[in-house]
Amino acid sequence: MAIQWFPGHMNVTKKAIAERIKDIDVVIELLDARLPGSSANPMLAEMTGHRRRLKVLNKQDMADIARTEAWLAYYNALPDTKAIGLDASEPRPAQRLLQACRELAPHRSGMTKPLRLMICGVPNVGKSTLMNTLAGRKAAKTGDEAGVTRIEQRINLADDVYLFDTPGMLWPKIIVEKSGYHLAASGAVGRNAYDEEEVALELLNSLKDPYADRLAARFKLADADNISQRHDEELLEEIGRRRGAVMSGGRVNMQKASEVVLNDFRDLSLGRITLETPEEFTTWLAAAQAIEAERQAKKLARQKKRKGGANAAATEPQPLDEDTEDGDTDDTGEADQADNPPGRE
Ligand code: G4P
Repeated sequence: MAIQWFPGHMNVTKKAIAERIKDIDVVIELLDARLPGSSANPMLAEMTGHRRRLKVLNKQDMADIARTEAWLAYYNALPDTKAIGLDASEPRPAQRLLQACRELAPHRSGMTKPLRLMICGVPNVGKSTLMNTLAGRKAAKTGDEAGVTRIEQRINLADDVYLFDTPGMLWPKIIVEKSGYHLAASGAVGRNAYDEEEVALELLNSLKDPYADRLAARFKLADADNISQRHDEELLEEIGRRRGAVMSGGRVNMQKASEVVLNDFRDLSLGRITLETPEEFTTWLAAAQAIEAERQAKKLARQKKRKGGANAAATEPQPLDEDTEDGDTDDTGEADQADNPPGRE
């Protein structure tokens, strides 16, 4: 089952951003450098329109250096966009942020035309850590549970540069299935919103080709030259055995094996890893958008049919229609997640 996640406060954030954006010159979008495409918020592009944007690949200390370079080149080639890599070890991040934002909006400077910035990012991307550094405070609000609501604040990065914060948010519908798994693997999704075994299997699926050598070395896997060809379940089982996650009767404890894989990814025991390339993500997104467009078209057709039926019913008596749908369900009978998002808590 694909991961769907929509903490209850997201609608509030959406409204707050729509209100704030009117006075913003540059949108700073904080992304997780390990999963830049998946940690981007598609709603943000809709809400911020043609605003200039600075993409910050944060936590670059955890990401694959070559892949970060590829993502930076990809974003820097987009119109009205700049991209920089960043991580919490940078002593004075304001300098680089400021320079990039001033280059994006050279027409804004001086007290009469201050440069106004807004910083956004999905939960766990490192926004409060960065904000605390920028504000010159000791990090106070970081925590390992994603989605903590934060009060909006303003920091003056210079006399004529205001940085507005927004509460963290995640998109209402993760349309790229792989993104849900990558976000869960990274720790950006609340723990009770996903199945660890499922996420670990998808993580192995993303790792087994580009990082086969790391998996083989870390878990001392057999058939090391052939890892990318092996089934995810088979790999997880072998990892479980190697790590002694075996139950009575000799069966592998897949839950324990999953925790091992997720922890080793998160704490860098597998090294610096980036789960997706720009090319891969673009392909996934295009495929997901095509499916989504088809789903929306079907939904519209159903609504039209219902309306037509209702109008006809108003003018002449109708027999009971067995196809009549009660709720807003699609052809699979699943509720529309965008309209009925599951809460996190
Ligand atoms: P958020 O506001 O976007 O939700 O994220 P937050 O700053 O709370 O950061 C989430 C986790 O990511 C924290 O770890 C934080 O320390 C870590 N983090 C933030 N920026 C960086 C970075 O550039 N590099 C690395 N490696 N980690 C970063 P935590 O384990 O949840 O909490 P803590 O015990 O480290 O404070």
